[in-house]
Amino acid sequence: MQTSYRTVGVAGAGAMGRGIAQIAAQAGSIVRLYDTQPEALARARDDLFAQWDRLLEKGRMDAAAVQACKSRLLLAENLHELADCDLVVEAIVERLDVKRSLFAELERVVRPDAVLATNTSSLSVTAIAAGMQRPQRFGGYHFFNPVPLMKVVEVIAGLKTDPAVCAGLSAFAREMGHTPVLAQDTPGFIVNHAGRGYGTEALRIVGEGIADFATIDRILKDQVGFKLGPFELMDLTALDVSHPVMESIYHQYYEEPRYRPSVITAQRLAGGLVGRKAGEGFYRYVDGKAQVEPEPAAPQLAELPPVWVSPRAARRAELYQLLKDLGAKIETGQSPSPNALALVAPLGFDVTTVAVVERLDPARTVGIDMLIDDAATRRRVIATNPATREDMRDAAHALLSRDGKPVSVIRDSGGFVTQRVVAAIVNIAADICQQRICSPRDLETAVTLGLGYPLGPLAMGDRWGPTNVLEVLFNMQTVYGDPRYRPSPWLRRRGAIGLSLLHEEA
Ligand code: NAI
Repeated sequence: MQTSYRTVGVAGAGAMGRGIAQIAAQAGSIVRLYDTQPEALARARDDLFAQWDRLLEKGRMDAAAVQACKSRLLLAENLHELADCDLVVEAIVERLDVKRSLFAELERVVRPDAVLATNTSSLSVTAIAAGMQRPQRFGGYHFFNPVPLMKVVEVIAGLKTDPAVCAGLSAFAREMGHTPVLAQDTPGFIVNHAGRGYGTEALRIVGEGIADFATIDRILKDQVGFKLGPFELMDLTALDVSHPVMESIYHQYYEEPRYRPSVITAQRLAGGLVGRKAGEGFYRYVDGKAQVEPEPAAPQLAELPPVWVSPRAARRAELYQLLKDLGAKIETGQSPSPNALALVAPLGFDVTTVAVVERLDPARTVGIDMLIDDAATRRRVIATNPATREDMRDAAHALLSRDGKPVSVIRDSGGFVTQRVVAAIVNIAADICQQRICSPRDLETAVTLGLGYPLGPLAMGDRWGPTNVLEVLFNMQTVYGDPRYRPSPWLRRRGAIGLSLLHEEA
């Protein structure tokens, strides 16, 4: 088997270096694994041999392939043993000074035509290359943990990187069974940048007292199809990893308000509630299992009031059909009768504002999130305003859970949970396209493979309606008066014609 790079050096035998060594050896390259700590090297070899033995047991590799991989893995106790490498990938400690001095030494050791790459996740590729004699042969090669399972790698061009180096790294990624995506050297590259919308907006919602962690997790999993809720995800990643990433991207973008971190995670990190590995994060863990309070049961009511639907409701026809299917007594007058429940379905606006603008009795007004087609969700979400009467809230809750679909009740805000989080994700993705950090197609690939979202952010925008997402953002900007909800010009221009249509555009 001939790979683009016959001999590959990997500097740093930690979690990432091991993973990179594993897939490079499996692709057929000779791997020279280097670490300053001899114990780390020995552990890495034992760990990799055990991995390959497991793959053999599971029948994923045959005995000859396992033997070949083991023989291709060579341990290097000093840097000079990397002299014959065609490519060296660095995965050492995340410090600019240490990385720079490693590459300065490496340049003295390897051939002039050898390619050098860094697996940094938060430093600038250009900054690492600044002291190099041949920065053109150097690029970013950002893998995700665990490397063999996370099948995407960001190939990052620094300001001086030769495009041929990126092409070579991309070809080699494919040989290792990974999908390369090309990114400009910008803070967070693609995946860590695109990931800002999810947790950051969810934290704002908690910070505003709209809903608790568990409710937000349930809503985003059941309505949008995320595998993990944002708080489950932060517990898994652990706040000692994710909070510094949030801070770093925010500061690197000169305090761009969209990326502003949350005092909630700062405080929980300070208190040691970092997540699953500490036994407690947003959830408490017993035997590795999150302890989640059961959801309150839907109220059982003998009789329900008639329902009147605002003529301005989003997806009004679908909402009518839903209410009909649930057996509601639907009113068709111009305004609700004195006992009716008034249902509104705003996009981006809060229920209170809608009640005032539409001259409805706020005590009988409840909002429902209709951004996503009801048939496509496994949960409904309703919001009260501060004046909503309990009997009206309970009537809406009881009616909307008649068919057994769970209903979450949240407090009023500009934009429901799903609207806010989806709009934040789509808007940040649009801004990544606006900045030409990557192509729209690579953005979608990076996010689905790197973050595991059910859809790429542009496809998500198209699925739930680009104009709906724009409406959410425009109205939230009005409610909050905050530039963080300002729609990206890219989204504004393409809102009317669809986002994924433009995948072809570089
Ligand atoms: P780690 O702490 O598990 O391993 C780092 C290894 O590098 C250690 O074995 C250490 O002895 C060795 N090392 C330190 N200085 C060295 C030097 N000057 N020369 C040779 N070896 C040296 O770290 P991990 O998690 O593997 O991360 C490594 C790099 O990968 C960092 O730059 C990190 O930002 C990046 N990264 C990490 C991800 C993760 O999820 N852990 C994801 C993507 C990138």
